[in-house]
Amino acid sequence: MLVLLLTGWSAAYGEDGSRLWLRLEAAHNTATITGVKGTAMTELQTYWQGGPVVLKRQKGIARDGYTIKSQGEKIVIAAANDAGLLYGAYHLLRLQQCTTQNAQSIKDLDIKEQPAYDLRILNHWDNPNGTVERGFAGRSIFLNPDPERMKMYGRANASIGINGTVLNNVNAKPEALSSESLQKAKSIADQLRPYGIRVYLSINFASPIKVGGLKTADPLNPDVIHWWKDKVNEIYKLIPDFGGFLVKANSEGEPGPQDFGRTHADGANMLAKALQPHKGIVMWRAFVYAPQSPDRANQAYLEFMPLDGQFADNVIIQIKNGPVDFQPREPYSPLFTAMQKTPMMVEFQITQEYLGAANHLVYLAPMWKEFFSFVKPASLRAMAGVANIGDDTNWCGHHFAQANWYAFGRLAWNPELTSKEIAEEWLAQTFSTQSNQNSQSSILNSQLVNVMLDSREACVSYMMPLGIHHIFAGTHHYGPEPWYNPRGVRADWTPPYYHRADSVGLGFDRTMQGSGNVRQYPDELCRLYNDINTCPENLLAWFHHVPWDHRMKSGRTFWDELCHKYDDGVHEARHFLAVWDAMQPYVDSQRFDEVQHKLRIQARDAEWWRDACLLYFQTFSHRPIPQDMEHPVHNLNEMMQFRIPITMYENPEYGYNK
Ligand code: GCU
Repeated sequence: MLVLLLTGWSAAYGEDGSRLWLRLEAAHNTATITGVKGTAMTELQTYWQGGPVVLKRQKGIARDGYTIKSQGEKIVIAAANDAGLLYGAYHLLRLQQCTTQNAQSIKDLDIKEQPAYDLRILNHWDNPNGTVERGFAGRSIFLNPDPERMKMYGRANASIGINGTVLNNVNAKPEALSSESLQKAKSIADQLRPYGIRVYLSINFASPIKVGGLKTADPLNPDVIHWWKDKVNEIYKLIPDFGGFLVKANSEGEPGPQDFGRTHADGANMLAKALQPHKGIVMWRAFVYAPQSPDRANQAYLEFMPLDGQFADNVIIQIKNGPVDFQPREPYSPLFTAMQKTPMMVEFQITQEYLGAANHLVYLAPMWKEFFSFVKPASLRAMAGVANIGDDTNWCGHHFAQANWYAFGRLAWNPELTSKEIAEEWLAQTFSTQSNQNSQSSILNSQLVNVMLDSREACVSYMMPLGIHHIFAGTHHYGPEPWYNPRGVRADWTPPYYHRADSVGLGFDRTMQGSGNVRQYPDELCRLYNDINTCPENLLAWFHHVPWDHRMKSGRTFWDELCHKYDDGVHEARHFLAVWDAMQPYVDSQRFDEVQHKLRIQARDAEWWRDACLLYFQTFSHRPIPQDMEHPVHNLNEMMQFRIPITMYENPEYGYNK
C-alpha cells in the first residue's frame, strides 16, 4: 500500500527524467530574497524554501567564485559577478535537495568556493541537419531551439558550473559560419547568457574557400587573414561575448594549415589574432594521427611537441585524455606532461561512444579521476567534455548518463571532488522524493553509489580488460568485432592493428623495442611501463605484446586471467541489474522500468563481449577456457555474422539480440 502511494506520488510529477537533477519543487512560502537582481534571485525566489537570502556583489572574490555565510537568520551569498551569485544560489538549492530535513534547518553556513578553471566547456558534436555525431540521445537540441528546453539547458549547466558550450561538431561544416547559422547562434547565445554561458563555434579551416569564395585557406595569405578578421568581427557584432573557435585540423580528413605547407601553430595563431581584440580564444585540437605513423599513439606528440611554445597566448591546445581515442581505459596522453610552454586543456568524452552508448550504465567520474591522478589539474588551463545531450525526453538517453554530464561539470569546477561525493550528490538530487527522503533514500543511495562507482571498471572488464583497446565493430563503436579487418580500410581503423593477437600472445608492443611510445612518458613512468614485470596489469596489453603464458600477479597465466576478467565483468553487469531490481520500491515506475530495460541490455551485451572476444582470441591462444568460470554461450560464427545496422548518429535499440 505504502509502495503504491509512493510510486503514485512520483508518477503524478511525471518522472520522465526531463528535470534532470533539478527536481526542485516551486516554493510555497516565497522566502525574502533581496540584493542583486538577476537569474540567481529568480531561481531562489522560485525554489528556495529556507530562510531569507541576501545576494551581494563583493570585490576580492575570485571570478565566478562565491561565499555563502549565515548571518543570524539570514544567508548572505556574495560574489564578484552575476555568474558567481548564480553558482552560489545553485549551491544553496543543492543543499536543500540533498538534506534529509527541511530547508529551514540549513544554518551555520560558511562556504567559500572558486572554480579550478575559468573555462568549463561542453562540446556538442551537432550537425546542421540535426544529427549528433556519436550522439545517443536523439537529435540536436540546437536544431530548432525550443525556449523552454534552452532554459532548462541553461539552468542545468549553471547548476554545475558549466560556462561555455560549443554548438556544433568538430567535423565542422563550412556553413557553420553562414549568416543564417550565425543568426541562430546569436539566438542561442541570447537565451543562454542569463545562465552565465558563452557560446563557441567549431570552424572548418577551409571556410575562406568554401564560404568566402577565396582560392586558398593558407593561414599566411593576406586575403585569408582578412577574411577571418571580417568574419570574426561579424560574429562579435551579433554575439558580443562570443567565446571563440574550436578547431579540428588535419585530422581524419578535415582541412588544416598543413594542406598549405603550414603548421598547426601557423593556423591557430592566425585565428587567434583575429579573435584577440575581442578577448576570444582558439581551442586547437591535438587529435591527429597521420596514417603513415607506425603507432597511432605516438602521433599527436610527434606533431605537437616541436611546436611547444610557438602558440599565441589565446590559443589552448585541446588534448583528449588518452593518446588514442576515448577508450574504456587508456594511459594519459603523454603530451600533458611533455608540453611545458603551451596552455593545454583536456577533452573528456561524456557521450559514451566506446562505453556502451546510451544503453550501458557506466559512471565516468572514476575514469576522469584516474586521469587526474597522473596529470595535475593545475597544469591545465581548462576542461572540455563532449556532450551526451540530445532531444530525448530525458536528455541523455539513459537516466544514469545524466550523472556523467553532472560529474563533468562538478569536476570542471573542482577536480579534487571524489567520484563518490559526486555520485552521492547526484543520486540524492535525482532520485529522492518527499516520501522516500529519509531512511529509504539512504538505502537507495548507498546501494546505487556502489553500482555507479564499480561500473566503469566492470565495463573495462567485459569489453577490453588488461590494456586491450579499440576492438570495436568497424561500422559502430558499440559491440565487439576484434576480427574486423576488411581489405582497403586503413590499418589503424581495424582492431587487429591494436590487439595484434597471434600464437605468441596479445597486445601492442609500445616498449623501447617496439613502437617506442613509452619514451614519450616521463622517465619514471617510461621505465615502469617498459618492463612487462612492472607495467600495471590494467595497461599490460597496451604497452606489451603479452605472451599467453605470462605469469600474472594472481598466479594465473595471462590467458586464464583474461578469461576470468571477462567473466567477472559479466557477473558485475548482472549484479547491477539485481541491485536495481531491489530498488523498485524506492523509484518512480517510469524511470524504474526504463533503467531496468537498459540494465538487461547491458547484462546481455556483457555476455556478448565476453563470448565474442574469448572465442576469437582462443583461435590464437589455443588454450582452454578455465573450468572454474562460466563458459561462452554464444557461437563465434554467429557472432561474426551479426550486424547492428546503425549510423554514428543513433543509439542501438538492443545489442546482441540474435
Ligand atoms: C573519434 C570519433 C569521431 C570523431 C573523432 C574526433 O574518432 O569516432 O566520430 O569525429 O573522434 O574526436 O574528432
